[in-house]
Amino acid sequence: MIILGIETSCDETSAALVRDGRELLSEVTATQMEIHAAFGGVVPEVASRHHVEDITRVVENTFRNASMNWADVDAIAVTCGPGLLGSLLVGVSAAKGYALATGKPLIGVHHIAGHVAAATIGTDVRPPFLCLVVSGGHTELLTVDEQFCFAKLGETRDDAAGEAYDKVARLLGLSYPGGPKVDKLALTGNGEAYSFPRGLLEEEGYDFSFSGLKSAVNNALTKQRNRREEICVEDVCASFQDAVIDVLVEKTRRALHHTGYTRLVVAGGVAANRGLRARLGEFGEREGIDVVFPPLRWCTDNAAMIASAGYYRAQQGKVSDLSLNAYAQLPLHTWQSWGSSAI
Ligand code: KG4
Ligand code: ZN
Repeated sequence: MIILGIETSCDETSAALVRDGRELLSEVTATQMEIHAAFGGVVPEVASRHHVEDITRVVENTFRNASMNWADVDAIAVTCGPGLLGSLLVGVSAAKGYALATGKPLIGVHHIAGHVAAATIGTDVRPPFLCLVVSGGHTELLTVDEQFCFAKLGETRDDAAGEAYDKVARLLGLSYPGGPKVDKLALTGNGEAYSFPRGLLEEEGYDFSFSGLKSAVNNALTKQRNRREEICVEDVCASFQDAVIDVLVEKTRRALHHTGYTRLVVAGGVAANRGLRARLGEFGEREGIDVVFPPLRWCTDNAAMIASAGYYRAQQGKVSDLSLNAYAQLPLHTWQSWGSSAI
């Protein structure tokens, strides 16, 4: 089954052709990162406008690169939420237009289901597993069963991990997106230079909180600036990163212990973080857990992961119809409970 995936939930206009959820045939992504960097973050109206300008060309080039056409495609999968509403609407409207014109089935995909499915592209990784989702908008621990159905164990109560990275980067005057820059600077810093709080670490359960950590970094920087002390950016980055990773690793360890899963998939943009990869890798070796990180290119937003998740959704017998809408907020369990309505 060949699925055309479309992803426009934030600042990447992406299309991909994927066979049976795992084999990438072609992928084209037009990134707006540099455009938004000038504003210090994603400007929703600007993002929507660029999606409108790019979507047709991106889809056409995806077909061209694979030497394929619409006759080769079995279904169209598109991110329908959560994300920036105007951006999502561009992808959903395009997908509905293509579905109407070609008669191909339409599959609305939850963005997080896409991040999870990314771990299966080009691999033979199969559920069941525990999944740690760490992106710019989400921090969640999920169980994923054999049918690719999700159950949430816990999530962030305030900022997502990636959001905390971006906000701390901003406090340090680093440009958007800050996550990769903080990651790089942390490599040469001293993680013990500052003792930042480990949010909710002492609390039972699997919820996270990162807004206190961001405030602690802000307070420390303000204090030092007021005293005209020199700030070692590398040390701030390393200390911040250690605080984030300590919590992510410990909560994940507890969830694995509680559920008995022996495989962990780490998904979302922050899964690209070198510190997190190293610490969870060590943890996996020590505890006999199979820790899977998607290849770096599929950690951040892309359409291959949406095509892949669309395949697993189709396997569940669930397709959408032309009433499919875009949702800025879309709880995973709400999407999962949607029935099927074949075209
Ligand atoms: O999954 P993603 O592309 O978009 C969302 O669905 O949110 O994640 C983007 C987030 C941004 O906050 C970015 O700063 C963060 O992932 N990120 C990283 C790294 N690479 C991307 N954070 C820490 N270390 C990285 N290497
Ligand atoms: Zn994402």
